[in-house]
Amino acid sequence: MRTFSVRVLDDAFEISYVPNGKTNFTKTITIVCDPDVPIGENLEKIREKLAGIDFDAAIIENPLDYDFSDTVIGVNHQRIDMGLALSNMLNIPVVSHETADREGLETAVENKRTYNEWHLDYYGEYAAKRNYGQEAMLTIGNGYFGLRGAYLAANADQDNYPGLYVAGLYNQLTTDIAGRDVINEDLVNLPNAQYLSFSLDQQEPFTIKHENISDIYRSLDLHTGVLTTTMLVSLPTGHLLKICEQRVADMHQWHRFVLHYEVTPMNFEGPITIFSRIDGSVVNANVDRYKAFKSRHFDITETTINGQDATLGGQTKASKVNFVIGTRLTSQELTADSPANESVTDDILEQSFTFKAQTGTTYVIEKTIAINTSLETDGNLNDAVTSELAQTSFNDVVTANQRFWERVWHDSDIQIDGDLTAQKLTRVNIYHLFVSASPNSNPHLDASVGARGLHGEAYRGHVFWDELFVLPFYTLHTPDLTKQLLLYRYHRLAAAKKNAQLEGYEGAMYPWQSAQYGDEQSQFVHFNPDSGKFDPDNSRLQRHVSLAVAYNIWLYFHSTNDLDFLKTYGLEMLFEIAHFWSSKAVKNEATGRFDIKNVMGPDEFHENYPNADEPGLTNNAYTNIMVSWLFTTLMDLKKQVDQKTWTALTKKTGLTSTDFTRFDEIAHQLSLDINKDGIIGQFEGYFKLPTLDFEKYRKKYGNISRIDRLLKAEDKSPDSYQVAKQADALMAYYNLSFNTIDNILKQLDYQLPKGALTRNIEYYLARTTHGSTLSRIVYSVLSLITGNMDQSFAFFNTALRSDYYDIQGGTTAEGIHLGVMGAVLLLEMRNYGGVTEFDDVLSITPHLPERWHRLAFREQFKGINYSFSFTHAEMTITADKEATVKVFGNTQHLKAQQPLTIKNTEAS
Ligand code: BGC
Repeated sequence: MRTFSVRVLDDAFEISYVPNGKTNFTKTITIVCDPDVPIGENLEKIREKLAGIDFDAAIIENPLDYDFSDTVIGVNHQRIDMGLALSNMLNIPVVSHETADREGLETAVENKRTYNEWHLDYYGEYAAKRNYGQEAMLTIGNGYFGLRGAYLAANADQDNYPGLYVAGLYNQLTTDIAGRDVINEDLVNLPNAQYLSFSLDQQEPFTIKHENISDIYRSLDLHTGVLTTTMLVSLPTGHLLKICEQRVADMHQWHRFVLHYEVTPMNFEGPITIFSRIDGSVVNANVDRYKAFKSRHFDITETTINGQDATLGGQTKASKVNFVIGTRLTSQELTADSPANESVTDDILEQSFTFKAQTGTTYVIEKTIAINTSLETDGNLNDAVTSELAQTSFNDVVTANQRFWERVWHDSDIQIDGDLTAQKLTRVNIYHLFVSASPNSNPHLDASVGARGLHGEAYRGHVFWDELFVLPFYTLHTPDLTKQLLLYRYHRLAAAKKNAQLEGYEGAMYPWQSAQYGDEQSQFVHFNPDSGKFDPDNSRLQRHVSLAVAYNIWLYFHSTNDLDFLKTYGLEMLFEIAHFWSSKAVKNEATGRFDIKNVMGPDEFHENYPNADEPGLTNNAYTNIMVSWLFTTLMDLKKQVDQKTWTALTKKTGLTSTDFTRFDEIAHQLSLDINKDGIIGQFEGYFKLPTLDFEKYRKKYGNISRIDRLLKAEDKSPDSYQVAKQADALMAYYNLSFNTIDNILKQLDYQLPKGALTRNIEYYLARTTHGSTLSRIVYSVLSLITGNMDQSFAFFNTALRSDYYDIQGGTTAEGIHLGVMGAVLLLEMRNYGGVTEFDDVLSITPHLPERWHRLAFREQFKGINYSFSFTHAEMTITADKEATVKVFGNTQHLKAQQPLTIKNTEAS
């Protein structure tokens, strides 16, 4: 094993290693740490000095002594977990000398690697958006609720935001903005029921203040979903305490979560008071941009405190959803002889109790929290909450959860050897997908996955086309969960029909932003932080969201053969969506083709033609290709269902044979704007727009990813330029196979010259600023299709780190980006694993990134459970039933439970 070691001096790092080809010579370099730059920059010098040398691990000779991590160091009076930082930087495990001595180097490194692959850790106390972002990343939940990873003693302020959300629990509020009534529907931030703190000598309860915290370490265990925070508190009075907080969402009894709180006085004895609260005074305040809008979403209807228990009941102001949140405190120190003090002031329920603490003794308090709402609970909510609170403990829940997480990691894990960071962040993504929706809770809910999960308030918790990037992962692992999420759309079919009707169309037009009712929740104006003004917002014209719904229905059916679903729900939605597009397509007598007007593609920088009176654009390529695909797919699906069902559904949806004839006509005659080089115009007239000098803007502003805002602040419009926020014209190549798109283009009577896709990618990349996290991941897939692995992997790596590094500089604070998380996972399976599910049998052509030694995952397709393992030399496929697959284009038969190994040399 090749290692280097680091000895930390007061103001320098001493790095030692054995250079290439030497055996008994150790090279030592001293790197002086500049005290005036962030410590990370000093660490970067290590990377620079060791560039080009491969190491398997690093050893820290003299770390500080902590029980939460063996790699924290102190230099220049600053502390950092050098292990975490170097691991991220160099993608290798980092151990302490002492651990290596104790466990043996090989074992210590392997243990650390496994630890890193299964934990999301943060060391140190961060403020503002940085801390908000970590809270989002450390959210626990179970599809029913999401609880941000804020400290238990934190109240909402500029550094901390303890948000709690229940899936599908929205409320609308009206705010008068400059004489105009603006209605917003928000995922409601519920009362903060996690609050626990302590005080000494009858002081005020301890609050999270930088000067009081000497160390803090947070660790999310992805194996179990337990978040542990260890805090060393040093008060101005000289008292030292160790606080350890743990929390876990119950994945089975999904109405509840449990907190385990430990207090240890380190250097004193005396009375300690514990405070527990349900804070009903909270508002929705996670997103600065929304501050001008009303934010108090519920009224409190009842409060009760009774010994260990407290309950707060409330009702949302407009949606009239009732909820009850109950808490139960348990502690050996809380006895019948010394019951808790109780108070209710300013919507805050507080219980407190005092005990005499001894130095070095750990005192344990547990708090169980249950939430029931009238959305999913029939009958008395108080009774439901009381029964949820009955007899449980932190350990019981952790044990019970084991079954759930074991299953998740058995069925849905993606294993990556040779890339520690990719492995860790892949599991982080899988974890968050199951926090945002879960097979246990979702069958009882009427909700789908919001663009920002249940992790924050950006986009007000709304559901977008982002489902397109998330649902396929569920479809291939927990297909029933996809079905539940698609039912959210089915239950809003009537609303989608009304949306269409309101705009003068037939069929169903799903809203760009969907919440409780399925009406359009997009705003007409959008706040521009760069100009301080509200700009018009036409994003609702992204009618392609209905195509995303259709795509997910098709992929679910295609992957599961769930005919029941298709007949009962899926086809009806597809008919209505098709009807909408048919009513939107207009025959252009001049071209003899159909046009689709007044739409926006995924690229949100283009809302109109410059200086046009009408909103939207004509013939967005992505939309038109997907509409043609939809009509064609509908005809294919006709073969799958019996005539009776088909006829009954046509009757139900009011379609006639004339409609179907028209669908077919449109599918063959939609218009695209393709230039002589084979570049697919994003929309009609795109080629006439001038390009923008990106370099000039980069020089002026640095980061130009949101060039739309910068241009608007300069009184210009992105509408006027060939500039894109994200992948648009080529999106269809992301959704479907190259051949499918090729066939659609042929059926539309277009033909792209050879090599056109590569040219299209280059063309659009030169015009794209990646202002959405959904951009790079799409380009990663596209780059791979055209064989550009290098480019694909570079985009993949940035997309993989979207939230971990908060690459948009502050947006993770307002919730994770679930779309890119799902898309990263899908790419690993569909593109790097190369297992595509577009045909009737799985087709397998792996493209393993150079640095990955092995990639392995499972997947369900048409009722068969497959497992795949890929190395650079070979692949092994196992199916639980007899199956046929295509490997490198050749048909292969698999016997049940018998692994088939194929060498990559057979690829030709
Ligand atoms: C992207 C959309 C996306 C939305 C919600 C926007 O920034 O442009 O494509 O649906 O965020 O994630």
